[in-house]
Amino acid sequence: MRMTMPPKKRTAIYPGSFDPLTNGHMDVIQRALEIFDEVVVAILRNPSKKALFSTEERLEMIRQSFNGNSALKVDAFDGLLVDYARMKHAVAIIRGMRAISDFESEFQMALMNRKLHKDVQSVFLMTGLRWIFTSSSIIKEAAQFGGDISDMVPKPVKRKLMEKFPLLADNLQQNPKKKETR
Ligand code: PNS
Repeated sequence: MRMTMPPKKRTAIYPGSFDPLTNGHMDVIQRALEIFDEVVVAILRNPSKKALFSTEERLEMIRQSFNGNSALKVDAFDGLLVDYARMKHAVAIIRGMRAISDFESEFQMALMNRKLHKDVQSVFLMTGLRWIFTSSSIIKEAAQFGGDISDMVPKPVKRKLMEKFPLLADNLQQNPKKKETR
């Protein structure tokens, strides 16, 4: 009798700083989940980069934002991304693309990763049009001065930003329902 092997699980790693997770990241994760059996969102533990949120806070915000999807895993890693991808038996590294300005550094990183590990493919996913101008940095910058970033981040991230930035908390408490920009 011929035994049929179960199909191999196709895992992709979505690496980044996620300081913090934005709706643009969420959009990329949802698209990746449509293609791969398992997506591991992996935060680089990078002591040389000053972050607003600790790695543990960032992991927790991602977990809360994706509450209950078993195909999504959340983790942190040190060192080379390709070593981590190898350890996870990942077939792909996901990166989100917003605009042409992202292209040059992403291209360089993808080719370096391929040089270091030829069996993992870089897959670039375009974020939804409404997120092409968002980034963690610009959201943090607006939030620290009280700018309403409510519709750019998932709710657990908004709550944590309000904890970090009293001006944002005051502003959102005074103007809880702002109209979305057209
Ligand atoms: O969200 P970011 O900051 O753009 O993510 C960058 C990240 C974490 C994906 C990248 O810096 C990385 O993979 N670092 C791990 C070290 C590594 O493997 N470097 C060699 C490839 S360029």
